[in-house]
Amino acid sequence: MCGIIGYIGKQEAAPLLFNGLKRLEYRGYDSAGIATLDSGLHIKKEVGRIDDIHSKLNLTDIPGTLGIAHTRWATHGGVTKTNAHPHVDCNGNIAVVHNGIIENYQELRNSLDSSNHQFKSETDTEIISHLIEDTMKKGYNFEDATISALKSLEGSYAVMVMNKDERKLIAARKGSPLVLGVANDGYFGASDIPAFLEHTKDVVYMHDFDVAVMSDEGLKILNILDNKQVDRKIDTIEWDIAQAEKGEFQHFMLKEISEQVDTVQMAVQQDKKIIDDVVNDIKNAHGIFFIGSGTSYNACLAASYIFSKINKMHINVVLASEFPNYGHFLTPKTLVIAVSQSGETADVLDAVKSAKERGCKVISIVNVIGSSLTRTSDSFISLNAGPEICVLATKSYTSQLALFTLLSYALTGSYDEGKAKLTYLWNVIYQLTSATMRNKIKELAEKLKGKNNLFLIGRGLQYTTALEAALKIKEVSYIHAEAFAGGELKHGTIALIEKGTPCIVFVSSENEKQIISNAIEIKSRGGYIIGVSPRNNEVFDFWIKAPEANSENPIVQIIPIQILAYQLAVLRGLDPDRPRNLAKSVTVN
Ligand code: M6R
Repeated sequence: MCGIIGYIGKQEAAPLLFNGLKRLEYRGYDSAGIATLDSGLHIKKEVGRIDDIHSKLNLTDIPGTLGIAHTRWATHGGVTKTNAHPHVDCNGNIAVVHNGIIENYQELRNSLDSSNHQFKSETDTEIISHLIEDTMKKGYNFEDATISALKSLEGSYAVMVMNKDERKLIAARKGSPLVLGVANDGYFGASDIPAFLEHTKDVVYMHDFDVAVMSDEGLKILNILDNKQVDRKIDTIEWDIAQAEKGEFQHFMLKEISEQVDTVQMAVQQDKKIIDDVVNDIKNAHGIFFIGSGTSYNACLAASYIFSKINKMHINVVLASEFPNYGHFLTPKTLVIAVSQSGETADVLDAVKSAKERGCKVISIVNVIGSSLTRTSDSFISLNAGPEICVLATKSYTSQLALFTLLSYALTGSYDEGKAKLTYLWNVIYQLTSATMRNKIKELAEKLKGKNNLFLIGRGLQYTTALEAALKIKEVSYIHAEAFAGGELKHGTIALIEKGTPCIVFVSSENEKQIISNAIEIKSRGGYIIGVSPRNNEVFDFWIKAPEANSENPIVQIIPIQILAYQLAVLRGLDPDRPRNLAKSVTVN
């Protein structure tokens, strides 16, 4: 995944693009670049993070009130300056930034090679500028040549294109996110709203195959499936720029962890009619699948335990990437609930596509409204968590859990009771995210920061928390962390426990006896036991108090470990917001 932004208007473009890029950096941070137009095209690009590139090249010092910019997460071609966007045609007249993957790129490149086009990079993106150049040579104008180029692309794209001879900014999307911003003095296009939110809250969500042509005369949107102009409504978004900024926090990760005191409450502020409709769909379905990837999958798994316990209902929980193996169970009576923070995860979108092909109803639980998933589902429920910028999912996870829990209560006819319980959790979350708790967990992080391995165990719902906690620790601190159901560690992996091996044990009142006896097994082999538990126990070497919250335990118990993962990253000198090799949403299979 990459981030793109473009601007045309009355202000100098480069500073706006630079600030926008910084807000999109969570989408990729291998390299970045900016192109602007005044009397000619100016391009600056380099390998590295945006601030470092800026110190070297001064990215805001390029003239022009029209420009495009890109921050890259490499797919086609290595991390080099030449592969950094923007890419241009043979003569340097047409500049393109792109997020997505052009699947027929080799075929198109071969045919352009045979017409003597000179390629500089190894990227799939560069073919777009050459295709436009090729068509313009045949007498087409910039707009028509761009549309013709887009029509020949297979795969996914969000692109923004500019041309040295015209004050026009062209933006198009198919399968990758792109939103337009309508400001008083110009237009923006970007992969995500925070990129331009300080300038306007009025947005237009582009649909697949839409091409927007922005100029000083106005905005026009065509859909290239039938070449007709379309009317897309302007929505005003409700959250503000403060939610997309770090504020007093050093990192987005800590900010987003702290926001859970509000976001869990926001998740349960739903239109009751939407919840009732989903409840009816669940009741009428013959076979239900919860699907997601990464953290969203872990939320699905936790939800399946909740539905089993509270609703006595069996749910099939499948990783989105493994969903093709279940195709033969799908019928038009199957209900698929697809969960995704970004709504752009390729594995989830593919799974949804295959479910729809088999006639299933698809409901999604999504944070980013206007994302591909909200469009392809029959209906969706919004997480209302506000922008999640850190690559790690934290607040979106607890919002997913809160929403699933609310659905579970609603299914038993106890919607109001469920909503009240979840709302009241703010009190507990407030304690768990307080400075006192953060300092206590920092003490633990100091003890663990030099470890190479740690284990996590839990039973029932606590097992699903262990899985999510392990993912958090691994992806941000790079410490190997492995989760087990309480009874499973002794079936082999206990061989790895030696003196001082840390093991985090998640305890609920319901399974206290069994999980404590598992902890004792580990301790007697030398393990260092960290209890996340309502009550202290003599087996614990370190105790984190997490009040008993029954079905809401997953929301409560993950928070201290989110903080631990954060502290471990900071103490190990790592950037918690931008872990290596990761991108916020994985738009490749
Ligand atoms: O946007 P999604 O919820 O679909 O993303 C799914 C995963 O890629 C995501 O949860 C990933 O595992 C995060 N890095 C977890 O912190």
